[in-house]
Amino acid sequence: MSRLVIVSNRLPVTIQKEEGDLIYYPSAGGLATGLNSLDESWEKIWIGWPGQEIREAWEREAVRRDLARDGLYPVFLTQEDISLYYEGFSNKAIWPHFHYFTQYTTYRDKYWEAYKSVNRTFAEAVIPLIREDDLVWVHDYQLMLLPAMIREAFPNLSIGFFLHIPFPSYEVFRILPWRREILEGVLGADQIGFHTFGYMRHFLSAVYRICGYEHHFGKLTVGNRLVNADVFPMGIDYEKYAFPDVEPQEGNGPLKIRELAQKQKLVISIDRLDYSKGIPQRIKAFARFLSDNPQYQGKVTLVMIVVPSRANVSQYKSLKEEIENLVGKINGKYSSFDWMPVHYFYRSLDFSELTTLYQEADIALITPLRDGMNLVAKEYVASKEASKKGVLILSEMAGASNELMEALIVNPQDRQDITDALLQALEMGAEEQRRRLERMQERIKKNDVRHWAVTFINEQKKLMESQKAKIAQRLSAEDKKALARAYRAAQNRLLILDYDGTLMSFHKDPQAVVPDDELLHILKKLRDQDGNKLVVSSGRDRGTLQDWLGHLKLDMAAEHGVWIKRNGEWSNNTGLSVSWKERIRQVLENMVERTPGSFIEEKDFSIAWHYRAIDKALGEKRVREFRDVLLYLTANDDLQVLEGNKVVEIKNAGVNKGKAALNWVGERDWDFILAIGDDHTDEDTFRALPEEAHTIKVGLDKSVARYNLLSVEEVRSFLASL
Ligand code: UDP
Ligand code: G6P
Repeated sequence: MSRLVIVSNRLPVTIQKEEGDLIYYPSAGGLATGLNSLDESWEKIWIGWPGQEIREAWEREAVRRDLARDGLYPVFLTQEDISLYYEGFSNKAIWPHFHYFTQYTTYRDKYWEAYKSVNRTFAEAVIPLIREDDLVWVHDYQLMLLPAMIREAFPNLSIGFFLHIPFPSYEVFRILPWRREILEGVLGADQIGFHTFGYMRHFLSAVYRICGYEHHFGKLTVGNRLVNADVFPMGIDYEKYAFPDVEPQEGNGPLKIRELAQKQKLVISIDRLDYSKGIPQRIKAFARFLSDNPQYQGKVTLVMIVVPSRANVSQYKSLKEEIENLVGKINGKYSSFDWMPVHYFYRSLDFSELTTLYQEADIALITPLRDGMNLVAKEYVASKEASKKGVLILSEMAGASNELMEALIVNPQDRQDITDALLQALEMGAEEQRRRLERMQERIKKNDVRHWAVTFINEQKKLMESQKAKIAQRLSAEDKKALARAYRAAQNRLLILDYDGTLMSFHKDPQAVVPDDELLHILKKLRDQDGNKLVVSSGRDRGTLQDWLGHLKLDMAAEHGVWIKRNGEWSNNTGLSVSWKERIRQVLENMVERTPGSFIEEKDFSIAWHYRAIDKALGEKRVREFRDVLLYLTANDDLQVLEGNKVVEIKNAGVNKGKAALNWVGERDWDFILAIGDDHTDEDTFRALPEEAHTIKVGLDKSVARYNLLSVEEVRSFLASL
């Protein structure tokens, strides 16, 4: 079994210095608690920061030794790293930005520089520990540059990345000055996981718009690798909360929680102190509930656990003050001698306190303004395994709301909505509570944290397999040599090359793709070798091809074979009608009017609508709209509608690159035929050629070609090597 190498900013233990001693505490937060519950059956090591500056060499050694016993490897950060990378870029730029708190985003180059350099420090810590067959799994927003850095050192390593926080919509993401570098960093991974489909969609849209990579059902080709983006909602260790292995808390336990629960309806709220959690809004909503429902005054208590977090970041400090003010206000206003509406605790809980609280609470009020997942909601539901009593009120902005549909789902900014939900929860009958809980429990039990990790890892393994299959299909160095040998041994060679996407890369403006000197040189050399017949076969119009390549005196096929140039003469597939073009042009002109940035390309025997320069989704919407009209308009003509790479072309049926190729195939008794192309129109060429022809597809998409090359650069260097 391959080893799992987990890398996250925070290790599952956090060191605190108490009177000179180093004390190890479990870390708080969903990432650490969730991943730490993966059981012993994994051979795993975990690399991360122990949460405290450790300066002295001897102390670092001691920490290293202590942690190594549990397979943990510390990355030591200096105070400056902590303030610029952790508090700075991670928690003053990415965290607020990705949670839609752009008003809190700090755009400081100094933070960014530190982020890059600490990601590099992590890479330097990870790289020496890695074995080639490990599966490396990088976690969360603090380490978004790390996958690409590890990839540099290990081009074939299996690397996964999981984002535990939301990925914001493109419109928000694009504001970040370092957006491209961040995406390129993440794209160093083979597989990229998100909690929800929404986050994944936003990521793919940003990748397309910023880096230009298109995806097909979440899969994209980045350089010579296949990358998979997918949804893996994180779960919890169900058994741990459903059947907690702790002594039940007695009435006089640390929170006296049972005692309170006997007298009161208990509403609990548990979060790290974070503005994304909507704590002030929640207190205000609870105040509204008490004022609107005086019958519940004295009968309902909100137990609010706020776990200290990121205390050096200014927004967290001011939030603490705001919360404490609000708690003071509501308690001042409503308390009586024997009742206090809000019990507020600013500290973390140990496991027995936490589970007692979960078990005793009648209602969990979990109302983040944004939350990647929210595991507390799932833990609460699991803790009701035995009693089947309790109601979850959950924000629709938490990732968990996608799976916990039976909760009372609220908009966290809508005080009335929360007030209504509280009333509904308090008055909900036992049967309904049971029914809702059971449905949620079933789901959380099945999709627990182990299931999450196993699915992520298995999908990544599958991806690596298909990667290998693709690589096997790639024209290897050996294949290239063999092809070159066959080429040299042959006397009569036919070479059919597509132009756009094969010899030249795509550009927003198709007229800008003029052949460069390198390409002209390669083509000339091929043309001049004895026994060669070189053909450029393209969908482009005859005029352009003649302007760009005419002086080379090659054979050519233009407009997918409507026009053929052989031995210096152009001729056309006579008998083709063009009377249909006027009607179609009118429809396309209307499309251009409604879609600025798109344009029409008119060729002798076809007409095309290009949408390379506009929003792809808008282009596709327009194509769908006019497909029906086209079908109607073209019904009586022998026409075909071809959808290409951000272009739709209407042309006479029966014309294609395969038919065009046959013009040359029969010309001589070839002992070597080579065809290279990237587009689905080139598949016609591949199909039309005899079995023994050497066919090469550019890119990793499905093809009938025998081999793959990955890029225009690779095609050129292969051709030059001939
Ligand atoms: N938690 C904790 N200490 C506490 C209270 C809660 O470690 O005093 C745990 C809680 O059990 C949960 C995690 O912290 O597993 C919080 O994860 P969640 O996804 O709800 O929020 P995050 O902190 O990741 O934003
Ligand atoms: C969230 C983040 C984690 C982080 C945790 C606690 O769950 O997604 O990456 O570890 O909060 O925050 P902290 O800053 O204390 O690590």
